[in-house]
Amino acid sequence: MSWHICGKLDRVNAIWLLFSREIGMDVFRIEGPVRLSGTVTVNGSKNASLPIMAAAVLTPGKSVLKGAPQLSDISVFSQLLTDIGCKVATGPNGDISIDSTTIGKPVGEYDIVRRMRAGICILGPLLARMGKAEVSMPGGCAIGYRPVDIHLRGLRELGAQINLENGYIVADARRGLRGGEIFLGGPFGSTVLGTANIMMAATLTKGTTVIESAACEPEIADLANCLNTMGAKITGIGSPRLTIEGVKELKPFEYEVIPDRIEAGTFMAAAVITRGCLHIHNCRLKDLMAAVALLRGIGVTVEAENTGCIVACSGKTRPADITTQPHPGFPTDLQAQFMALLALAEGNSVIIEKIFPDRFMHVAELSRMAADLRKEGSTVIVSGVNKLIAAPVMASDLRASAALVLAGLAAEGTTIINRVYHIDRGYEKIEERLNPVGAKITRESD
Ligand code: EPU
Repeated sequence: MSWHICGKLDRVNAIWLLFSREIGMDVFRIEGPVRLSGTVTVNGSKNASLPIMAAAVLTPGKSVLKGAPQLSDISVFSQLLTDIGCKVATGPNGDISIDSTTIGKPVGEYDIVRRMRAGICILGPLLARMGKAEVSMPGGCAIGYRPVDIHLRGLRELGAQINLENGYIVADARRGLRGGEIFLGGPFGSTVLGTANIMMAATLTKGTTVIESAACEPEIADLANCLNTMGAKITGIGSPRLTIEGVKELKPFEYEVIPDRIEAGTFMAAAVITRGCLHIHNCRLKDLMAAVALLRGIGVTVEAENTGCIVACSGKTRPADITTQPHPGFPTDLQAQFMALLALAEGNSVIIEKIFPDRFMHVAELSRMAADLRKEGSTVIVSGVNKLIAAPVMASDLRASAALVLAGLAAEGTTIINRVYHIDRGYEKIEERLNPVGAKITRESD
C-alpha cells in the first residue's frame, strides 16, 4: 500500500474516531497482523450461568454459583434478581451468591429485560415458586426477530394462564401447574431458553413432564445437572427428550458452571486467523465437535491436552461450508467468527444461517476490511482473499464484534472497533487475555 493511501487512511481513522466516538463507549485499537502463541484460559459459560442464576429463584435460601464470568450480562441479570427481591453478592473469588429467601415482586421489569433477552428465563421459576409472574416481552435485537411463542406455549401446556398486557407477559398458575407432554420444536428447531424455562417450571409441578424436541445444548444439560443437585428429578439430560418428575420442594445449590464453549471456539478461531498456536485451557472439546471437525477439515491441527486443547495453523487454510444448526450442529454463536477466518481461506466457502436468518450484521463491517462476501438471503458466499486490511468498524452485537476483533488481529494496519460494550457482554476483558499471547489491542475510554 502506498504511503499516500496509508496516510490518508490514518487521517480518516483519526477523523472517524474523533466524530464517531460516543460518550462513555470504549473503543478498541487493534494493530495487525499478529501471530498468537501461548496459553489462554476459557472462563465459565455466560449462557449456562444466566439460567442457573434464574434457577436460584425456585427455592428460598442462599445458592452459590461458582466460576461465572464477570460480564455485563451477568451484572444485568444480578440487577434483575435484586429488583425482584433477591440479595445478590459477588465474592472476592468471583462466586455469585443469590439469596432468594424473599421475593418482593414477581415482575421482570421492561427497563432490565430489554437490556438482555435472557431475562425471559426468570418467567418459569417465578411462576413455579410464586404461582404468578409478570415479565416484560423482550424486544428485538441486532441478530433479528426473536419471538417467545414457544416459551408461552410450553407454560400454557403446564397449566398456566397467560395474557399479554402492556408489553408484559402476565402468567397465572395459582391453581397449580401440572405435568404433561410438551413439544418444544419450532420453525428453527428447539429453543434454548424456552427449554430452560419449561424445565425449571416443571421441576416443581405435580406429575411428570416430558419435553420432546428439547434443546440439547451443553448449557441446558448444565442447568439440568444443577437442578438435580437441588433435588429435581430430571432424566434424558443432553438428549431431545427430557423427563422431569415434579417434586414438592427444592433446596438451594452450590454449583460450578461449565466452561464457555463459544469463548473457546472464538480463541480457536483467533489461533487460526493469525496462523498461530494457542494452548486453550478449560475447554471441553466434546461441546465443540462440529467446530473442531470443521477446523480439522480445513487443515488446522486441534489436539486434546490436559483440561483443554492445542490449536495450531501454519499456512493457508482450505475453504469450508457451514450450516448453523442446534447442538450438536455448528453453533450460530460461532458463525461470525468463522466467517472472519474463512475470509482468508484459499477458495470459496458457503455459510448458511439456519437459527437466526438475519444474523449477518458483521458482513458489511468485514467487507469494509476487504473481505470478499456476498449475501443472498440467509446465505453468505465467502471468497477467500490474500489479506484483510484494517478499517474503522462498528460492533453491532456480541458475536459480530468478536469477528471484528479476529479480523483486526489478522488485518494489515490499525483497526478501530467502536461500541466494544457489545463484546464486553460476552468476553471478559478480552484484550487483557489476548495481549499476553501476542495481540496488540488497546482499549481507549473517554
Ligand atoms: N424461537 C421461536 N420461538 C420461541 C423461541 C425461539 O421461534 O419461542 C426461534 C428463534 O427466533 C430462533 C430459534 O428459535 O430462530 C432458536 O432460538 P433460541 O430460543 O434457541 O435462542 P435463545 O434461547 O433466545 C440462546 C442463546 C443465544 C444463542 C441461541 C441459539 C442465551 C442467553 N442465548 O438464545 O446466544 O444464539 O440460544 O443457540 O443462552 C449469544 O450468546 O451471543 C447468543 C445470542
